[in-house]
Amino acid sequence: MSRSAHPAGPRHGDVLPEGHYTPPPSDLNSLDPRVWAQTVERTAEGALRVGGVDVRRLAEEFGTPAYVMDENDFRARCRAWREAFGPDADVFYAGKAFLSRAVVRWLHEEGLNLDVCSGGELATALAAGMPPERIALHGNNKSMEEITRAVEAGVGRIVVDSFQEIARVAHVARRLGRRQPVQIRVTVGVEAHTHEFIATAHEDQKFGLALAGGQAAEAVRRVLGLESLELTGIHSHIGSQIFDMAGFEVSARRVVGLLTEVRDEHGVELPEIDLGGGLGIAYTSEDDPREPHEIAKALGDIVTRECEAAGLAVPRLSVEPGRAIVGPTAFTLYEVGTVKELEGLRTYVSVDGGMSDNIRTALYDAEYSVTLASRASEAEPMLSRVVGKHCESGDIVVRDAFLPADLAPGDLLAVPATGAYCRSMASNYNHALRPPVIAVRDGEARTIVRRETEEDLLRLDVG
Ligand code: LLP
Repeated sequence: MSRSAHPAGPRHGDVLPEGHYTPPPSDLNSLDPRVWAQTVERTAEGALRVGGVDVRRLAEEFGTPAYVMDENDFRARCRAWREAFGPDADVFYAGKAFLSRAVVRWLHEEGLNLDVCSGGELATALAAGMPPERIALHGNNKSMEEITRAVEAGVGRIVVDSFQEIARVAHVARRLGRRQPVQIRVTVGVEAHTHEFIATAHEDQKFGLALAGGQAAEAVRRVLGLESLELTGIHSHIGSQIFDMAGFEVSARRVVGLLTEVRDEHGVELPEIDLGGGLGIAYTSEDDPREPHEIAKALGDIVTRECEAAGLAVPRLSVEPGRAIVGPTAFTLYEVGTVKELEGLRTYVSVDGGMSDNIRTALYDAEYSVTLASRASEAEPMLSRVVGKHCESGDIVVRDAFLPADLAPGDLLAVPATGAYCRSMASNYNHALRPPVIAVRDGEARTIVRRETEEDLLRLDVG
């Protein structure tokens, strides 16, 4: 997670309480384009507008809290990834970051493929018309039902994650009279520099088959020996919210190393490699993410170089960005309920959502930024903590941020870069109703995922 290395105060000489905060911008009304969706702007009147729609209108029409997603920005990011990787590579959007039928249609229209990791995500993809051959199924413990549904639907790729699963997929494919394309998920032994919970390529964790010790090579032997499986390639995903390309380079090198071993042992050149997702985005102005074209060039160069050195034909590359596509496209719109100043400490600003719509701050110590969205203000910066309405003191949305000192109940706040892993990890804690996702585009706003209702909660409660 990002961390500001430069705690700074609102006024020169102030001693601030312990914390990690991005220094206040010289103008609290300014919007750093790195953390906001492309069409977000502050109007002359002072309120934010996105996709040509004023946030006050959004709050009135759809209520708060709400995730507000900039559809044009989402599509532009899809195109940027596709164009950066070009026709010889595939971009699989990782649905776990956020998935809905509208998103599946946008992906389809923009020429992206889709990575799903559960029966529910697969059902959403198919319901919205994603061609099955453009879907990849992931997961470290796929059920027989999920495997069966995927093989039956004809998904283009199942990424197998264990010896048991190789046998299960082979069995299902045989029973259905299919030859199922699979990739093998390997762990390359890279320590990704990110939060422990979202690093996935070091050896001591649940995903994949390790290159070290020969498990991955054994998996290749087994898959090649099964008639009903077609081994198309090797998959590696090293973690999430990563800025440093070095881990991807090591991963690419080791995956190509395995392709070389496979060629030498079996005389087979596998035609695909997938280097996963994990590219970081800016949550605050301190973060400096790489652009898709820089990522594509770095990965393409290393794969080409390693393959040439090994005398291998360059395989078709695929990547699986989730956060880097959807993360920056949305912000969460909240209404301020209470403002409580703790003398000498900070001001607690309570909003009408919290850890049920954004668990990332509590779970990963993630940092976010925040701005007053319903108006501009020239008031002094006030060191604030934006908290939710749940019954826990860890219910924090933005740990440390500067908001204007005239902030008052009824003001709207916007927390940017909440498009990824916020709605998709939302919960009903305290019987909170999960917020809607509102898509805005060219002056129009529409609900793509509706707000949960008390009837929705009670419908599940059949006791
Ligand atoms: N491919 C695979 C196999 C993955 O497991 C993941 C994410 C991705 C692609 C997409 O990674 P992305 O590009 O979005 O970083 N809940 C955590 C993130 C967990 C990521 C899990 N796997 C968070 O909120 O930061």
